This record gives sequence, structure tokens and C-alpha cells, in this order.
Amino acid sequence: MKSIKENWNSMATAYEIFNNSPDSYSYNIEWKCIKNMLPNIKEKDVLDLGCGTGIFTFLLEQFNPQKIIGIDLSDEMLSIAKKKAGECHSQAEFILGDVTNAFDYVQTEFDIIFSSTTTHYIEKLDNFFANIFKCLKSNGTCIISVINPIYSAMYPVEQGNKFPDDDEWTVRYLDRSKRAYIQPWIEYNDDFENELSVSYHYTFGDYINAIVKAGLSVKRIEEPLPPEAWKETAFGRYNSFIETPTYMIIEITK
Ligand SMILES: C[S@@+](CC[C@H](N)C(=O)[O-])C[C@H]1O[C@@H](n2cnc3c(N)ncnc32)[C@H](O)[C@@H]1O
Repeated sequence: MKSIKENWNSMATAYEIFNNSPDSYSYNIEWKCIKNMLPNIKEKDVLDLGCGTGIFTFLLEQFNPQKIIGIDLSDEMLSIAKKKAGECHSQAEFILGDVTNAFDYVQTEFDIIFSSTTTHYIEKLDNFFANIFKCLKSNGTCIISVINPIYSAMYPVEQGNKFPDDDEWTVRYLDRSKRAYIQPWIEYNDDFENELSVSYHYTFGDYINAIVKAGLSVKRIEEPLPPEAWKETAFGRYNSFIETPTYMIIEITK
């Protein structure tokens, strides 16, 4: 099975296509909630951990930070981010690296740290939050959007190279086994061959304990709803999101 880095390198184009569609969860659900949680970013220093193709890095940059840096493990995800940065005259800086060593690359503290849907690829959650502590200024704000634990609890348990059957998408909340499944961006795009992605499942308690252990505090937790309009236009999507929400967005301070 591919490593997490190899896996993201091979899925980069498919991910970008899927998440840039106008009806994507990233824009319609995640960003709508994040926007309302953000402090004032103008002329502040911002760090995006696991920035991928820069979808949120560029959205954050619209608020005119002084400096914005994205870190990601995948050179292919970053090459898409850098290409887009060139096209839109962005000043964002992108660094290839592991977010659990973020401070080693940046060697400075930031006013705002952001991360979206990256923590479930991190084997040592404690290291991730310990680095946030090192990279965040006192009284700084960190907004982390994670896969809602009720959702990652459904990810099928890894069974070597076997692709899971549909009925293996079932909640196993307290089972911390590695998970392996086909991501929607390749499953629903015939141009790409299906492959397994490995990730981890963390419970609500795992997140809170790792944040507190790092010396950080939780200020607020949001679990965003899908757009009301989807009740009419996309009822299936709306309803399955209500049953098992995809996101949990945590505001943290130091
Ligand atoms: C689901 S994508 C999210 C990308 C971006 N934040 C977004 O919301 O579009 C997860 C990203 O996490 C990155 N990633 C996974 N483990 C990482 C690590 N240890 N260090 C840095 N990036 C990592 C992957 O390369 C991938 O780009």
C-alpha cells in the first residue's frame, strides 16, 4: 500500500477537481462556518498546516494578512498550489514538510494557525498540537477543521490491500485501528484508477486531550450544517450529512 505522501501525490489532480466544484463541501459547508469563526487577519501572520492545493490558503489570503505560509507533505499538492499562486499573483509561501515538525521549518510564531482535514492523516496527534503550541503566539488563534469523529469512525478498518465493501462503512467509534478506503475524488471520477487511502480515526476525547496536553485551550467547537437549500436541491446529500456530519471545527487559543 502507498504511504500517505505517495497517496496524496497520486491523488492531487483528482482532489483539486473534486474540491473546486461549485457544490463542494469545502466551499458550501466548511468555509461558510470557518469565515464566521476567524479573527481579524489583516496584516497578521498566518500559517496553514496541511494546505494541500491551497484552497483555504487563498481564501484566507483574501483578508490581507501580512504573511501567509502553507506547509504540506505532498510535492504534487504543493505544485498545484504554487501554480495557482502564480496565476492569481498570490504572495503565499509554500513549504514542503511534515506538519508535526512545523516549527523546524518556520522558526517563528504566528498570530493565526489554520488547518483543514489533515489531522486524520497524522499518526501522532500529540506532536501535531505540540507544534501548534510552538508556532502560535500567546493569545493567538488556531482554527482546526477536522473530520467529525462520528464520520471518521465509519471509515473501514484497514485489511491489507483489500478494498472495503459498502457495508463496512459502519460506525466503530472506539476502535483506533488504522482505516483504509477509496476517497470520493477518485471513486467518482472515471479518469482516475481507484486506490486505497490510509488514515486514522480520533475520537472527540482524543482531540480534546491532545489539545489540553499541548498547553492549549479550546474556545469553541462548531459542527456546521449543510445549506438549507440542499433540502430542496440535493435532499440525499443533505440528509446523509445530518446523519453523519463530515466536519468538526475547533477554535483553540494559547
Ligand atoms: C484532505 S487534504 C486537505 C488539504 C487542504 N487543507 C484542503 O482542505 O483542501 C489533506 C492534506 O494533508 C496533507 N498531509 C497529510 N499528512 C501530512 C503531514 N504529516 N504533514 C503535512 N501535510 C500532511 C496531505 O498531503 C494533503 O494535502
